[in-house]
Amino acid sequence: MKILMVCLGNICRSPLAEGILHSKLNDKHRVDSAGTGNWHVGQCPDRRSIAVAKKYGIDISSQRARQFKSTDFDEFDLIFAMDSSNYKDLIHLAPTQEDRNKVQLILGNADVPDPYYGSDFGFENVFQLLDEATNQLINRFELT
Ligand code: 4NP
Repeated sequence: MKILMVCLGNICRSPLAEGILHSKLNDKHRVDSAGTGNWHVGQCPDRRSIAVAKKYGIDISSQRARQFKSTDFDEFDLIFAMDSSNYKDLIHLAPTQEDRNKVQLILGNADVPDPYYGSDFGFENVFQLLDEATNQLINRFELT
């Protein structure tokens, strides 16, 4: 299965989502992440995301931010938006109904809060939300 995690900047939430899910899956699956915005393209994840991942034994420091592109709809089977704004943007970019069907909110009906302007606790909270959400994805899509 090919899975893409999407947030706004691709430096805080989706790099964590990518790293956490990747750490739980074997190599037959592919996990990537992207941002709807282009401000941080080429940058490594926010140091606070790198730190919280490291605390739980996951290294995300070699990831580099990229912008979501509509050809990602051809590349990936499932595309998870971190919040409803990202979800809306992705739905607007989807060329076909089949592509729209690939897009889901990672928490189902709630947002992963954007931690960018907040405290370190925000990053811990994002990690915990995504740790639980990725367990649910593995069960729901029988990913192991
Ligand atoms: P992310 O967080 O979408 O989780 O990567 C953000 C990072 C940067 C900005 C917004 C959100 N920004 O406006 O630069």
